[in-house]
Amino acid sequence: HVSNLVDPFGRRVDYLRVSVTDRCDFRCVYCMSSDMTFLPHGDLLTLEELDRLCGAFIRRGVRRIRVSGGEPLVRRGIMALFRSLKSYLDDGSLDEVTLTTNGSQLTRFADELADCGVRRINVSLDSLDADKFKAITRTGSLDKVLAGIDAAVRAGLKVKINTVALRDINEFELADMLAWAHGRGFDMTVIETMPLGEIDGDRLAQYLPLNEVRANLARRFTLDDTNYRTSGPARYVTVRETGGRLGFITPMTHNFCESCNRVRVTCTGTVYMCLGQEDKVDLRAPLRASEADDLLDQAILKAIAHKPRGHDFVIDRTGIPSVKGRHMNTTGG
Ligand code: GTP
Ligand code: 5AD
Ligand code: SF4
Repeated sequence: HVSNLVDPFGRRVDYLRVSVTDRCDFRCVYCMSSDMTFLPHGDLLTLEELDRLCGAFIRRGVRRIRVSGGEPLVRRGIMALFRSLKSYLDDGSLDEVTLTTNGSQLTRFADELADCGVRRINVSLDSLDADKFKAITRTGSLDKVLAGIDAAVRAGLKVKINTVALRDINEFELADMLAWAHGRGFDMTVIETMPLGEIDGDRLAQYLPLNEVRANLARRFTLDDTNYRTSGPARYVTVRETGGRLGFITPMTHNFCESCNRVRVTCTGTVYMCLGQEDKVDLRAPLRASEADDLLDQAILKAIAHKPRGHDFVIDRTGIPSVKGRHMNTTGG
């Protein structure tokens, strides 16, 4: 099949991240404000449109799809999308379908996800202390997420824990979280907060550079550098005491854009060629203009031809976001 998703810098785009809803049952303090308003339903791509869109990218050579949100599992009927993506796994045109989730709905969906060919999932978890968890997520329940993780394990899904490093909030808990994750056989990744969209709090106060996290963890654990990579931006170490892996995602302090292999589509069908840049191409209009995929295909090629070299996030001393008006929940993590 045709596959010319190669950008002007020679990077092959074979990884698509799709946000299937901006809605979320949590209101994480670093992600959104407490009175976040969500998009009207009509703005969202329908499940059929999401399916067509994924198909068009797959025909152009995308080999991996990550479903994200918002919280993807709160989208009504979302299993229909996983069901149809399974057919691409079955016929060999996709290598992997993965999910990034807050875990709250996994008790309901873990078995079905596994049945749809999902092998590994990333669960966002920023604290194991119930009160802190509540303070971070505002509306989340730690017990529900832990039960969700258990259900995922029972269903045979490989779980990775994603933890956003937050100054003073979970800063001194990260070592215990790492011990917990590795004790359960989960890899863990820590992430620097990115200045994406307005929040109630002060981003600068939350921001915790991962060189500090690493130094702290190194007082309790022996961290050995590895060459292990997934398709994502994380750099991994192995923890000698546990044998588990720990990843660092450092958009602020260590740029990883030169090896970028992905684009992301928002829940409204806008493709952003970089998480941290405003360059975008609308795919919803071409999707809706015609039943045939020619216009859609042209728009996808146009997007790849305009993929920027990389992001330029800055958290300046005022803590003002470098990317205004666009939140992670719309864009997809
Ligand atoms: P896999 O390696 O595919 O398992 O994923 P990962 O470890 O990269 O994790 P995931 O895809 O869940 O991404 C975790 C977080 O990394 C996202 O929620 C983002 O915060 C960040 N991230 C992922 N891709 C990019 C990217 O292209 N640019 C930036 N700046 N951040 C990214
Ligand atoms: N910066 C970094 N990570 C973020 N996430 C959400 N908002 C931000 C942000 N501003 C994380 C979530 C989840 C993933 C999808 O992205 O915690 O792990
Ligand atoms: Fe929801 Fe994820 Fe944003 Fe938290 S970070 S509010 S779980 S979309």
